[in-house]
Amino acid sequence: MAQNTTIDQKVDSLLSLMTLEEKVGQMNQYNGFWDVTGPAPEKGNAATKYEHLKKGWVGSMLNVTGTEEVRKLQKLVVEESRLGIPLIFGFDVIHGFKTLAPIPLAEAASWDMEAIENSAKIAADEAAAVGLNWTFAPMVDISRDARWGRVMEGAGEDTFLGSKIARARVKGFQGNDLSQPNTIAACAKHFAAYGFAEAGRDYNTADIGTSTLYNVVLPPFHAAVDADVKTVMNGFNILNGVPVTASSFLQHDILKEKWGFDGFVISDWASIMELVPHGHAKNLKHAAELAANAGSDMDMEASAYVTHLVNNVKEGKVSENTVDDAVRRILKVKFELGLFDDPYRYCDDTRQKERLYHEEHQAGVLDMAKKSIVLLKNEGNLLPIKKDQKKIAVIGELANDDNSPLGSWRIGSDNNTAVSVLEGLKKYTKNISYAKGPKVFNSDANFITEVTVNETDTEGIKEAVALAKESEMVIMVLGEHGFQSGEGRSRTELDLPGLQSQLLKEVYKVNKNVVLILMNGRPLTIPWEAENIPAILETWQLGTQTGNAIAEVVFGEYNPSGKLPMTFPRSVGQVPIYYNHYSTGRPGAQPTVFWSHYSDEKNEPLYPFGYGLSYTSFDYSNLKIDASDQKNIEVSVTVTNTGKIKGEEVVQLYIHDKVASITRPVKELKGFQKISLAPNNSKKVIFTLTDKELGFYNHNYEFVVEPGEFDIMVGTNSQQGLHDSFIKN
Ligand code: GLC
Repeated sequence: MAQNTTIDQKVDSLLSLMTLEEKVGQMNQYNGFWDVTGPAPEKGNAATKYEHLKKGWVGSMLNVTGTEEVRKLQKLVVEESRLGIPLIFGFDVIHGFKTLAPIPLAEAASWDMEAIENSAKIAADEAAAVGLNWTFAPMVDISRDARWGRVMEGAGEDTFLGSKIARARVKGFQGNDLSQPNTIAACAKHFAAYGFAEAGRDYNTADIGTSTLYNVVLPPFHAAVDADVKTVMNGFNILNGVPVTASSFLQHDILKEKWGFDGFVISDWASIMELVPHGHAKNLKHAAELAANAGSDMDMEASAYVTHLVNNVKEGKVSENTVDDAVRRILKVKFELGLFDDPYRYCDDTRQKERLYHEEHQAGVLDMAKKSIVLLKNEGNLLPIKKDQKKIAVIGELANDDNSPLGSWRIGSDNNTAVSVLEGLKKYTKNISYAKGPKVFNSDANFITEVTVNETDTEGIKEAVALAKESEMVIMVLGEHGFQSGEGRSRTELDLPGLQSQLLKEVYKVNKNVVLILMNGRPLTIPWEAENIPAILETWQLGTQTGNAIAEVVFGEYNPSGKLPMTFPRSVGQVPIYYNHYSTGRPGAQPTVFWSHYSDEKNEPLYPFGYGLSYTSFDYSNLKIDASDQKNIEVSVTVTNTGKIKGEEVVQLYIHDKVASITRPVKELKGFQKISLAPNNSKKVIFTLTDKELGFYNHNYEFVVEPGEFDIMVGTNSQQGLHDSFIKN
């Protein structure tokens, strides 16, 4: 553990004053589910929790926001409990608080670490302004399954990109000085393998091998720990038979011992209680024992520790040293946040007035949103649209929606605060007419209820088709509702919900000049669209500045530069599908059926990982490898902008370790650089491959680099590029 003697000494001296009950109290987090500004609750759960706060039996609150509310509870604890240990206030600030950034999967499509870090910094500024000092983000779960609703919350399917993004987000939230009042503690979650839920069904079993665990799942968490993340959250899933909340292997052996993590582990929402339905704990008392001994330092909302841990210690089932270790970790973070110096440091009414929805934040999330957009197709350069373009039809319920594009993790923000696509487009031209088309989603969808989809009522299609027929071009805005992805939002299909495909096909029959704008929280299966529609933009859910960002791209103010962070399947039957797969023993087509394929679908995806077009074009040449220094193998390539306008390109470097003791994927991203080039300009892009990029973890979790031939590909996505190879001695 890094020795910051001042804080460590303070922690130890405070710990020595604490009773066992007070220590356990620090390991207890409650949800602020009552009106904390009102009178003290007199009965039921709230009254009990209120009493515990006064006794100093609560270490943290979640879902309490606003300087008035935070100050009220902080005052209660600091002034009424015996030792006055301040609370730490946590919240899901996943992609913004009031001002919403694009969903994290969209941000990942930017491959722009600076923009992503800035986006987290904006989120931290607003969260801190309302009294929060801790966010339950970044979610760093790798996933290859678009059926899983929480892919919207992560960085996609790739470990290398996911690790870079984990670091950028931690740095953005925590800044360089956690005691600053506009920085907050971050939380890498969900430790671990939650994204491998079987069948993409949320909360389902994860059962993966050690190579996938060590080489795919764990590295982004390790990157967050190396970036000094202050907290880690475990999860709801079991991993290889053991609930991760009770996994000493993950939380002690890997996280705290091997990686030297010196922050604290928070459970997921009542995940300690869930050890009972998992069939891992007999009852809540047993669950408290298992979770505490496994290294879950704080109990989110299960009341397991506050009810049973003191007795577990007294009965010798949990040692007081275990409790002391957890409490030290929690107190340390509170000291680093400056909460002991000034428990009200985050309760500044003026900051709260000034920082929320600040114009600086609008500019920051607009920049992030533009960079998150991926151009999937642009046949005949239908895009960008000329500003003097005559009659433009804008069609689709989502085009006029100022709520759904906020995405699903926006519980701190206000509904209907997004700039809609229609609003954004109208800033560029008056030649726009709008038709909603058929109803798609129930308009009162919210954070906790299922979204319902209209599958039968075709009213609105005729009117939309008529408008398309008389227009020069059509902008169709189709996709998912913001609450169709996120927690608890798994789908068995990945197509456009409801009658949207029918609408698109009917419009296309009368007007071929169609620009399809997709709004979705996960990869979708759109083979017909990809085949027939001339221009397609993947815009995800872009948050508050949605319409402005999309309009800038549609009218060419910004040349799209995004690249897919997750593979788009042709059909849901291919899922899980991802670029860094193994070869198998029968990779290629054979005259018989006895090779790895489907009888009814191609193996290839619709759009591969790393794919994205530009309004300009780029040429790759002069790929060179210099392996003379085996510790720093230099790979260089020349990239030229061969088009007519300035553009950004994400130059991607992939390796393939062709023969290894543990089979390696056919391709692995091991470097990328986002460059900007004026027309006819070239740039020599240089990558350096060290053992860190060439090695992998074996079954003993030892990092090894094995000699042999490595294939290299440098290109514009995971399928297209220049190839060469070198020998690693
Ligand atoms: C949820 C999520 C977790 C979130 C927590 C608090 O169930 O799994 O990511 O941070 O509970 O809301």
